[in-house]
Amino acid sequence: MTDNAQVICLDGPSGVGKGTICLAVAKKLGWHILDSGSLYRITALQVSREFPGQSVYEIDEAQLAEIALNLSVSYEEVNDELVIYLDGEDITELIRNEKIGAQASQVAAIPMVREALLARQRAFLLEPGLVADGRDMGTVVFPQAELKIYLTASAEERAQRRYKQLKDKGIDANLSSLVEELRLRDERDMNRKTAPLKPASDAIIIDTTTLDITQVTNEVMRLVDQRVRLS
Ligand code: DC
Repeated sequence: MTDNAQVICLDGPSGVGKGTICLAVAKKLGWHILDSGSLYRITALQVSREFPGQSVYEIDEAQLAEIALNLSVSYEEVNDELVIYLDGEDITELIRNEKIGAQASQVAAIPMVREALLARQRAFLLEPGLVADGRDMGTVVFPQAELKIYLTASAEERAQRRYKQLKDKGIDANLSSLVEELRLRDERDMNRKTAPLKPASDAIIIDTTTLDITQVTNEVMRLVDQRVRLS
């Protein structure tokens, strides 16, 4: 971390478009990005590899935290997309499915796992600044952030967006099960004891239900102009 680095937090529920907005805003500003959800997803992937066939709940929490602590992860931005490597293997697509998402939400409810990932997340804060997306960026990881935004949208709208994304990729999907999965994940992320998903008390809430990506990006940039000291 450097003293002059600034941070913008984008928190919110699954499928609200945080990742896309985060990339767009970071590109406009020339800042770094943190996709914190990917760290929980990668932890879930590594857990499933080290403990095949076992549920997260059957594994000792200290062992899960050990896995989170020792992940060998790296990120690269290629053509406006984030490419993610685990031990040199490109796992970008592998961690994006609903199963890993649900397992990520389960490991993310374990306080020792969250603690293990904290320093790693804070190490992303480098000059000139960072755009961080997740669930607890503004509440726990970067409480000092200049600008905290909480993005939200109805579960139906988020499921529709996810459905379209999957269809565009030629992947078969069922809309009502997507809505159900999102609801379950929201419930777990919002009701866990440690760092639950909720807006920071000083966050600005943007309901994106009727907005497209460009409109949300423009609104975030308007808030950046208003509130963030840009050198
Ligand atoms: O943003 P995402 O869907 O990739 O995140 C996957 C899961 O990780 C999500 O269901 C909850 C968890 N998560 C978290 O608890 N804290 C974060 N800062 C980011 C993600």
